[in-house]
Amino acid sequence: MLYMALILLTLSGVLTQDRWSVKYPDKPICAVRGFSVSIPCSYSYPQNHQVEQKLWCSMNSNTDVCLNPPYVYNSLSNTKSDFEFTGDDKSDCTLLIHNVQFSYSGEYRFRFITNVTNGRFTGKPGVTLQGTDLKVSLIRLSGNGTLKQGDSLNLRCDVNCTHTSSQFVWSKNNQPLNTSGPVLHFPAVTVRDSGKYTCTWKTGETSGSETISLHVKDLTDDDPEIPENTENPELWSIWVIVCVTAGAIVVVSVIIGAVIHNRRSVHTEQQKKDDSATESNVQKNEDDSAIYSNVQQQEEDSAIYANV
Ligand SMILES: *[C@@H]1O[C@H](CO)[C@@H](O)[C@H](O)[C@H]1NC(C)=O
Ligand SMILES: *[C@@H]1O[C@H](CO)[C@@H](O)[C@H](O)[C@H]1NC(C)=O
Ligand SMILES: *[C@@H]1O[C@H](CO)[C@@H](O)[C@H](O)[C@H]1NC(C)=O
Ligand SMILES: *[C@@H]1O[C@H](CO)[C@@H](O)[C@H](O)[C@H]1NC(C)=O
Repeated sequence: MLYMALILLTLSGVLTQDRWSVKYPDKPICAVRGFSVSIPCSYSYPQNHQVEQKLWCSMNSNTDVCLNPPYVYNSLSNTKSDFEFTGDDKSDCTLLIHNVQFSYSGEYRFRFITNVTNGRFTGKPGVTLQGTDLKVSLIRLSGNGTLKQGDSLNLRCDVNCTHTSSQFVWSKNNQPLNTSGPVLHFPAVTVRDSGKYTCTWKTGETSGSETISLHVKDLTDDDPEIPENTENPELWSIWVIVCVTAGAIVVVSVIIGAVIHNRRSVHTEQQKKDDSATESNVQKNEDDSAIYSNVQQQEEDSAIYANV
């Protein structure tokens, strides 16, 4: 059984490798006008062939089912255009289209020619590209005229295209927002909601974005969102600086005093007993921890002072 399966697998591998074929997505590909789209494509041919020429044609302009020019891409010509080949001469025939226009909508086919006589193939039917617009619209749910605080609204992102696996991502002033889906809902706008909102539409092949500006007018003169106790922010910060500096000076002078004291006591002890170095070390450690607790207390004191 296992043998049979292996043989079948090997056979099918050989068969697909030997077959002339071009594979594209079978559904139409949507792309937003002005953005880029990558059209996935793969091809195969018998093993003893070498690919010599790769071509992409648009059925809009090519009435000759791609047997003759014009081509949107021709590997033997060096002209630069919106149509860029990002595949290779083995099996990848991906086409990258820049700056998509509505006029680019239509069917595209890949054709390739090998070094063997009559070794040429066009993948048909081709792949369909659909140029579309991305539109962001503001829908008022309450209020009219100038936008003001408390008004309710939706920002809606529309693409004229039914794509099975696409997603909408929103950002405000280039900062990503934690929402997805085509609608951004504001139950009651505030002045802080003003800004530039960008909707980005993404699929596996492309993405496009569109921005809308939201300006919420503040009708009341005194803004209730400004906190009350900010009358004298400068004076307040000066007091903080004074308190912190005073506390720091006290702490530093205590440390210096304690260190001097410690050095003296160690010195006298060393004069008394030269061979008890370890003992004096231990004592020094004890002194240090005493200083530390002193400092800590001092810090607590200065904190209380700062609070006062
Ligand atoms: C085509 O190219 C392949 C690979 O280089 C080579 O093996 C083959 O002989 C060539 N065929 C012809 C007809 O030139
Ligand atoms: C605005 O809304 C008010 C009440 O909702 C309505 O009376 C008024 O006619 C509206 N104005 C306009 C220009 O639609
Ligand atoms: C979508 O397509 C329809 C008909 O094709 C057209 O009337 C409409 O304006 C389009 N909308 C957008 C946003 O492109
Ligand atoms: C974003 O949304 C997810 C799920 O709704 C939530 O778990 C997460 O905390 C949110 N993050 C922020 C920064 O709001």
